[in-house]
Amino acid sequence: MSSPATSAANPAATSPAPIILTGDRPTGPLHLGHYVGSLRNRVTYQRDYRQFIMLADAQALTDNMDDPAKVQRNVIEVALDYLATGIDPAQSTILIQSQIPELAELTFYYLNLVTVARLERNPTVKEEIRLRGFERDIPAGFLTYPASQAADITAFKAVLVPVGEDQVPMIEQTNEIVRRFNRIVNKEVLVEAKALVPEIGRLPGIDGKAKMSKSLGNTINLSASADEVRAAVKKVYTDPLHLRVADPGHIEGNIAFSYLDAFDPEKDALAEMKAHYQRGGLADSIVKARLEAVLQEFLAPIRARRAELEKDRGHVMQILKEGTARAREVAAQTADDVKRAMGLSYF
Ligand code: TRP
Repeated sequence: MSSPATSAANPAATSPAPIILTGDRPTGPLHLGHYVGSLRNRVTYQRDYRQFIMLADAQALTDNMDDPAKVQRNVIEVALDYLATGIDPAQSTILIQSQIPELAELTFYYLNLVTVARLERNPTVKEEIRLRGFERDIPAGFLTYPASQAADITAFKAVLVPVGEDQVPMIEQTNEIVRRFNRIVNKEVLVEAKALVPEIGRLPGIDGKAKMSKSLGNTINLSASADEVRAAVKKVYTDPLHLRVADPGHIEGNIAFSYLDAFDPEKDALAEMKAHYQRGGLADSIVKARLEAVLQEFLAPIRARRAELEKDRGHVMQILKEGTARAREVAAQTADDVKRAMGLSYF
């Protein structure tokens, strides 16, 4: 099925290594939280696994159908974030969900393997419905997106799905669909997947909230300019009880130190700085100066790679086109297997 040319260009896409799949809804730029929680892991995974990374634009539309242009625009922005942080298209397959109609086809069958009651009980969907204030006016596509995500995961026969804690119910529901389908056709057509939840917790927002998130407006984007980084660091929440420099300060809940823990490569100097802060006598401004230097140093090469890539957006689109074509071959095979298993192979 796959042409020798694509296989040679991308040995990782056809190797027998276990398949790992992740995805993002392209609704806005990626930030430091994405980096800590997932992007940096993907850079490691791509060496050892056959990795698919999905730009889930169709899923993003389930609650953004009023603004498809926003989703479309962010597909390339997120792709730039991937490439700038070290996702290597020769090792990972980046694909655009909407360009693989077999995913919609699989979703159509899987919808018959879940009940509305079960979808309404899915804790992730439930919380998202609450956050979006849908009340009873839930787009049907939104309520049923777990079936679509099951299609994403099973189409590529992924055995591992790295996700945040909040996505674990999605994997559970996928596996219910897998077991139900395999039981009906009495054959192991679909494979169950395991959620891979990173041990390092999520990165808090600059405002001190537990999660860095676009909707909370407390992010530092991977594409932030040097000025934006400077301004964000100024706003970073520290210890509200640390009123005078001489006072002992707290490390816990102090976001400047949370970020330094995540990004400062000089661990010994950081340990000393923490001890000094806790003893008293260390100004927030000194801690923040260090934080700014660390973040600028971390983001500068990402920004430079991004600028380089942006010079040739056609090349980036070509990477997405090739990844999507490769991914489609795999998804088409699964859709074919699924239909055959049901006896829906007439000609
Ligand atoms: N639902 C995921 C999120 O909101 C995005 C996503 C879509 C995904 N399809 C996927 C994640 C498949 C893992 C696997 O972040």
